[in-house]
Amino acid sequence: MRIDTVLKKYEAKEENLLYILHEIQDGSDNNSLNKKDLEEVAAYVGVPLSRVNGVVSFYSMFSSRPRGKYIIRLCQSPPCFIKGSVNVYEKIKQQLKISEDETTDDGLFTLEFSSCLGVCGLAPAMMINDDVYGNLTEERVVEILNNYRNLED
Ligand code: FES
Repeated sequence: MRIDTVLKKYEAKEENLLYILHEIQDGSDNNSLNKKDLEEVAAYVGVPLSRVNGVVSFYSMFSSRPRGKYIIRLCQSPPCFIKGSVNVYEKIKQQLKISEDETTDDGLFTLEFSSCLGVCGLAPAMMINDDVYGNLTEERVVEILNNYRNLED
């Protein structure tokens, strides 16, 4: 989606900054916000570029580096850690051949660590884009990743 299409939907006010950044990132080819986008957004809402950069680096859901189509956010908070998030991490690494903050060569998956996802009762848990997966086992991880791969076939 072109950035002007997004900007037209919002009043040029700083209160809309998060919504605008979200929508531009969601519509990008690589799940990220590039420098030019950020400059345009800053000019549109009338704040310094440093303010927009500060917002992007403060919120972990934003990224200024290119990422995969599917962002895996693996919870690293204590309840998930105790329930085996390390094993889940090892399985994801083995399956996708990437570590934290890396993207697969085919551009499909990026793996990120997250703090509590708010579903501690389902620990260990992860999100892939907007979907939450809990009670993860190594077998379940393989199944979930394969489901995403199959979407691309
Ligand atoms: S600690 Fe992992 S979801 Fe809350």
